[in-house]
Amino acid sequence: MAGRVQDKIMLITGGASGIGLATARTLMREGAHVIITDRNVAGGEAAAAELGGSTLFLGQDVTSEDRWVEVIAQITDRFGRLDGLVNNAGCGSLRNIEEETLEGWRLVHAVNTESVFLGCKHAVRSMKKTGGGSIVNVSSVAGLRGAPDLPAYCSSKGAVRMLTKSVALWCAQNRYNIRCNSIHPSFLATPMVQAMIDLSPDGEKMRRRLERTAALERIGTPEDAANMILFLLSDESGFVTGSEFTVDGGTTAR
Ligand SMILES: NC(=O)c1ccc[n+]([C@@H]2O[C@H](COP(=O)([O-])OP(=O)(O)OC[C@H]3O[C@@H](n4cnc5c(N)ncnc54)[C@H](O)[C@@H]3O)[C@@H](O)[C@H]2O)c1
Repeated sequence: MAGRVQDKIMLITGGASGIGLATARTLMREGAHVIITDRNVAGGEAAAAELGGSTLFLGQDVTSEDRWVEVIAQITDRFGRLDGLVNNAGCGSLRNIEEETLEGWRLVHAVNTESVFLGCKHAVRSMKKTGGGSIVNVSSVAGLRGAPDLPAYCSSKGAVRMLTKSVALWCAQNRYNIRCNSIHPSFLATPMVQAMIDLSPDGEKMRRRLERTAALERIGTPEDAANMILFLLSDESGFVTGSEFTVDGGTTAR
């Protein structure tokens, strides 16, 4: 039986761990050819070896425009086209507005926002020549509502939400057959969230706090996000573009 993204060529940034790795696993299970990239080369190679099959790993710092051009060229040379892009690589900064530095602010925006701009720009230029595609930008609930200790992160993820809508409208207006959507997870069990727990003075208290932010009163799994991404990359979501999807256990419902 054919998978839900059978034979599609999918690029996932930040694929060495967390949501990116879970998405790679999910897309492969559903028949895709998966290319993962990450700036963590050892982690990316280990992830590709674990995933097996036709998985390709490429080292990529998503803040470099030159590298974006090279990565997409390598994929289209090898596979003929790019059908899907998941702009997933990201980083956080747990500093309130009084503590955040300009350097920290710029780094978070380079990794979380500029990379999504670069990925969308070069993927659209490529996909429009080969019949279209689907782009999923991984934002956050922090891109929908504020958090007092995450000014740079909230700002960077809020920008991803609106960038997504602009890209979607441009592609629709030009009949490129390219869709672009954002997803907004709350806390999911990945190394990024584990780091928040580990860095907190009382880890258990922090874990309980994170669990209680969701109406479902638990931390989600990376697979929860991967399943939403699978839907948005598949043809099942053909009439869905410029939209935002929470994967948050009801966090933003209240
Ligand atoms: N885990 C959560 O609870 C959660 C919630 C909302 C949004 N998100 C978002 O989901 C995405 C994935 O997060 P995760 O939790 O899986 O984190 P993670 O730390 O497990 O994975 C992030 C990956 O991105 C890579 N990366 C970081 N900077 C990079 C760069 N400049 N170039 C290339 N790769 C880079 C890291 O090496 C890592 O492999 C991020 O954009 C994050 O902001 C996560």
